[in-house]
Amino acid sequence: MEFQSREQGDNGKLLKAQSHIWNHTFNFINSMSLKCVVELGIPDAIHKYGKPMPLSQLISSLQIHPSKTSFVHRLMRILVHSNFFTTKNVTSNDLEVEVGYVLTDSSMLLLKDNPLSLIPHLFMALDPNIIKPWHQMSTWFKNDDPTSFETEYGITFWDYARQAPKFNELFNDAMASDARLVSKFLLDDKCKGVFEGLESLVDVGGGTGTVAKAIAKAFPQLECIVLDLPHVVADLEGNENLKYVGGNMFEAIPPSNAILLKWILHDWNDEECSKILRNCKEALHMSKGEGRKIIVIDIVMGDEKSDHESIETQLFFDMLMMVFLTGKQRNKEEWANLIFSAGFSDYKIISILGIRSLIEIYP
Ligand SMILES: C[S@@+](CC[C@H](N)C(=O)[O-])C[C@H]1O[C@@H](n2cnc3c(N)ncnc32)[C@H](O)[C@@H]1O
Repeated sequence: MEFQSREQGDNGKLLKAQSHIWNHTFNFINSMSLKCVVELGIPDAIHKYGKPMPLSQLISSLQIHPSKTSFVHRLMRILVHSNFFTTKNVTSNDLEVEVGYVLTDSSMLLLKDNPLSLIPHLFMALDPNIIKPWHQMSTWFKNDDPTSFETEYGITFWDYARQAPKFNELFNDAMASDARLVSKFLLDDKCKGVFEGLESLVDVGGGTGTVAKAIAKAFPQLECIVLDLPHVVADLEGNENLKYVGGNMFEAIPPSNAILLKWILHDWNDEECSKILRNCKEALHMSKGEGRKIIVIDIVMGDEKSDHESIETQLFFDMLMMVFLTGKQRNKEEWANLIFSAGFSDYKIISILGIRSLIEIYP
């Protein structure tokens, strides 16, 4: 029997609209199914198998209850649809053809042992405590709280991280996983020149120092400092050319001839960013050495060449900043206004980091 489509005209539009609503109502199922396959270690099992992995082999490699084996193919089906796995036909010994699962570029980044694994970011973003503020968005629109996060918890995101050591660790690990991937691009031949000739660099809000450590290793003559809140850098040990400083970027930034702001300015509103940038300017002004600049890594919205998924991901990050913090994602014009109003003379946007860009700002 063949399916026949009879819905045309207004009825067709009505049913399409219903399907569109359902699709968006259930968008979270993509996230939760992804979290589940990672928790079950499915990408690792397929990777270990080393060739297209038949369902029967996958099931026997997983630590799941025998009553659940018949559900695995349904979990895999939605993740094949969302392009986290592909399938290939494989022939078993008794010449039966079976479907075998294969990793994609995205699921390769969800292997536990991949040095560039993004699992910590996935687990942090989908942590049940991190989901709660999303339920407060409409309440927040009607009250005067600065963020939905504060509507849920009554304190700022950074105070929450300070008071909840487990969450602090989860968040810092998530940031470090992104920092490992970004460091790979920052220090490749196309980008490395950004740091050449510098004598000192402060990674402001540099977390647990993943990027600064990579830069300090690649440029042993460069004096690097990681400045972050005291609860983030407590107990971290530096080395010959890397130092950790616990402090507050709204108060003071150590003198340096370059400053890195990775995923910092999008956390804050224009007024707060202006204060951070002015403190950066002061730190550059007090330093010795050539080539003074700020290196920003953040999203620049509005690139006409971006595809639908990249734009949606940028919009997701903008909403994240609205719900958790006071920040936002900015377009070219908003970046220019921010930079010039903080008293800087020029800037350059370099689009080399996927949905994010590298922006050099000159005093
Ligand atoms: C979005 S995270 C980015 C971390 C790191 N730059 C990265 O991209 O991996 C923002 C960082 O800013 C730090 N931070 C927040 N408020 C700060 C302040 N007042 N002074 C210094 N660091 C701060 C946080 O602790 C956190 O590590």
